[in-house]
Amino acid sequence: MDTIVITGGNRLCGEVRISGAKNSALPILASTILGGGECTITNVPRVVDVLTMGKLLGILGAKVAHEGNRAVVKADVIHSTEAPYDLVKTMRASVLVLGPLVARWGEAKVSLPGGCAIGSRPVNLHLAGLAKLGADISIEHGYITAKAKRLKGARIYCDTPTVTGTENLIMAASLAEGAVLMKLREAGAEVKTEKDRVRLTVPGKLKGTDVRTLPFPGFPTDMQAQMVALMTIAEGTSVVTETVFESRFMHVEELRRMGADIRVEGNRLVVTGRQNLTGAPVMASDLRASAGLIVAGLAAEGVTEVQRVYHLDRGYEQIEEKLQALGAVVERRKMTSMVR
Ligand code: EPU
Repeated sequence: MDTIVITGGNRLCGEVRISGAKNSALPILASTILGGGECTITNVPRVVDVLTMGKLLGILGAKVAHEGNRAVVKADVIHSTEAPYDLVKTMRASVLVLGPLVARWGEAKVSLPGGCAIGSRPVNLHLAGLAKLGADISIEHGYITAKAKRLKGARIYCDTPTVTGTENLIMAASLAEGAVLMKLREAGAEVKTEKDRVRLTVPGKLKGTDVRTLPFPGFPTDMQAQMVALMTIAEGTSVVTETVFESRFMHVEELRRMGADIRVEGNRLVVTGRQNLTGAPVMASDLRASAGLIVAGLAAEGVTEVQRVYHLDRGYEQIEEKLQALGAVVERRKMTSMVR
């Protein structure tokens, strides 16, 4: 075993290059499991724990190369989802592969870290958070097993702040299915996701569903106006709560002009669905409101004319062409400016 020998009493001055932080490098290395491409991480300290994390990624099947302070990791294919006891016992931070493995590959088996010289360090908050995201967790024979076909976004409260726990959950949540597709399913849509496409059909009637906007991975505020438009023709009553922006209900008055039954109660909308809307001239007030009015126009009887589409053009590329490809009767009329 090596020894460090210090002869004290010398004045210290000069410059030293500070190494990257081990406790940042470890979760960054673990996060490479989430993506398929090659990741190059710079300023990685060449310390034993970092090399251990590299070894663990290698055991899982990733290709890992350390070149000085650079680490290059490719984890597009893995052949194991198990972090074995022999490795975890040497480094507790191995538990950081739990979240990314279950999020990307649907399962993870990670040895339960044992006792620790600096005190009790349980991982109950990691596990409770993953369970909230929809993972089935079990502990058997000293191993944590987490399984989930697809994790789902959730609101997680850790009653003790935990560094690696938070990192694990952020990594897991980054691939979790967010509230939009879930909400469309709740509303009666059949949604099938494939590698690079989503297939959606509505075999029966649309059903009202409650929505609450939240920062990611909650239901996005940028889909609120479109969802409200959908709920205006769904069966039953839906409550839509906007918690991100204080005045994002400008589309409501316009939807009412089309016959929608919407009551505003502070930051909540109570939407009572009806069989159909009727087309009307309406005014777009912002980017997403414009999209909401177009959705309503597609479902309405007769002609809807959405004015001020310059809002729409800020964020939707050739939306009328995309809708035409689905069979919608939509056209853009150029406004000619009046010259005296
Ligand atoms: N805790 C729980 N349940 C959990 C997780 C944590 O009760 O599920 C408790 C722990 O028992 C502890 C407190 O929460 O009392 C904080 O523990 P935390 O989870 O934050 O610790 P950690 O993530 O295991 C990281 C660092 C440690 C650092 C602590 C400070 C890494 C790899 N490790 O550990 O670093 O001391 O945060 O909170 O980031 C070191 O570098 O020498 C080192 C030990």
